[in-house]
Amino acid sequence: MTSTRKKSKALPAPPTTLFLFGARGDLVKRLLTPALYNLSRDGLLDEGLRIVGVDHNAVSDAEFATLLEDFLRDEVLNKQGQGASVDAAVWARLTRGISYVQGDFLDDATYVELAARIAASGTGNAVFYLATAPRFFSEVVQRLATSGLLKEGPETFRRVVIEKPFGSDLQTAEALNACLLKVMSEKQIYRIDHYLGKETVQNILVSRFSNSLFEAFWNNHYIDHVQITAAETVGVQTRGSFYEHTGALRDMVPNHLFQLLAMVAMEPPAAFGADAVRGEKAKVVGAIRPWSMEEARTNSVRGQYSAGEVAGKTLAGYREEANVAPDSHTETYVALKVMIDNWRWVGVPFYLRTGKRMSVRDTEIVICFKPAPYAQFRNTEVERLSPTYLRIQIQPNEGMWFDLLAKKPGPSLDMANIELGFAYRDFFEMQPSTGYETLIYDCLIGDQTLFQRADNIENGWRAVQPFLDAWKQDAALQSYPAGEDGPAAGDELLARDGRVWHTLG
Ligand code: BG6
Repeated sequence: MTSTRKKSKALPAPPTTLFLFGARGDLVKRLLTPALYNLSRDGLLDEGLRIVGVDHNAVSDAEFATLLEDFLRDEVLNKQGQGASVDAAVWARLTRGISYVQGDFLDDATYVELAARIAASGTGNAVFYLATAPRFFSEVVQRLATSGLLKEGPETFRRVVIEKPFGSDLQTAEALNACLLKVMSEKQIYRIDHYLGKETVQNILVSRFSNSLFEAFWNNHYIDHVQITAAETVGVQTRGSFYEHTGALRDMVPNHLFQLLAMVAMEPPAAFGADAVRGEKAKVVGAIRPWSMEEARTNSVRGQYSAGEVAGKTLAGYREEANVAPDSHTETYVALKVMIDNWRWVGVPFYLRTGKRMSVRDTEIVICFKPAPYAQFRNTEVERLSPTYLRIQIQPNEGMWFDLLAKKPGPSLDMANIELGFAYRDFFEMQPSTGYETLIYDCLIGDQTLFQRADNIENGWRAVQPFLDAWKQDAALQSYPAGEDGPAAGDELLARDGRVWHTLG
């Protein structure tokens, strides 16, 4: 079962029993159900796909089907507005043969029942999707293994999808990988990072490696530095108890932000297949310079939002949120500087920042170019030329824009920044999607390109471990009002190198 990228005309995925552990949870509601529906709408699921919910509540098969339909209707209305509807035929096709297993994830009897469902399904293929709290990952996998459910046949597959967070530091990630790899092969493990399901993230690779123009300037001769930002306007919402012991660094950096960094910084893979792509990603994240404790402290900023006002509305501070300690020291914002020690990137800083309750939702990569080496034009100095850049916006307005200098019309030689742009919505009809469609489909067809290999995960944790270690000794926390773009110290991190963050929005 070698994995090759799907062709542009995708065929329906093979018949499979898809077990959703944590079937009544938030992930199934917000993302998996709409994604499965969208796949069914696009004809990408086989008639033999069987969805089986697994959770501890007592629910009949019919009640489970209704629950998913309610989830879907809510999400469709939420995202697409009033008037949007669910196509009954698509839904009926998807939920044909849907069933539910009531069981404790830690009880062996649950797994006996799962085996019975596979035996009755008409296919030996099964995917076990662990949409559960992370404490269950290794417990469930071990029970799947001892019940014989991970054993593949010559023509049948058994795969396990693991959600994030995958570990909470390098040591726990290594332990979890060791536990998984003891009972199944890497080819059976699909570690999810939903950023890889985003069209714009995948487009970074396509743009870089199918337009030879990019390669000409994609190096330390022309690029001054790179900024990667994931700014959110939402606060911690209902996830206070999870976030309290996670914080912005663990929640976003070794996974989502490093995915973006890897897409920008990796070398061209020899083929567009799982092994080659993941090998290059592992190499570049592995080349992030390990900071000493002192360097990690100087090259990082931790922030936490306090109460603030946005559009006349008062927003609570993090410490006032539900399930958050009134003296919490958890960061909701982090800014970092990292260096990549390889031929292409030596000397080019990568500045990363992410935060909750910032002024706008904006996930973007800004590739800042060096100024022209010599100012030919009368009365201009290189220092006075504004910096130029390429901005890749991942969300909400997906696309990419070059910011360049041009002459202003008129008799004098004045320059202005202009924009050359590509917005997805101007070129393509975008069907509603969650980003999980590609990931679920790829898992069903056995393509691991967009999933994290063990070394990808461990290299990510290895690169953030110096920050975690340094913060154990000194976790200075800067406050920023909700609705602003992080604390002043986040700006100083760049200012001391003579740089500024690109204005969000
Ligand atoms: C999740 C984090 O993995 O990603 C959340 O746990 C965060 O805290 C979310 O809000 C951001 O994802 P997106 O797709 O909205 O950028």
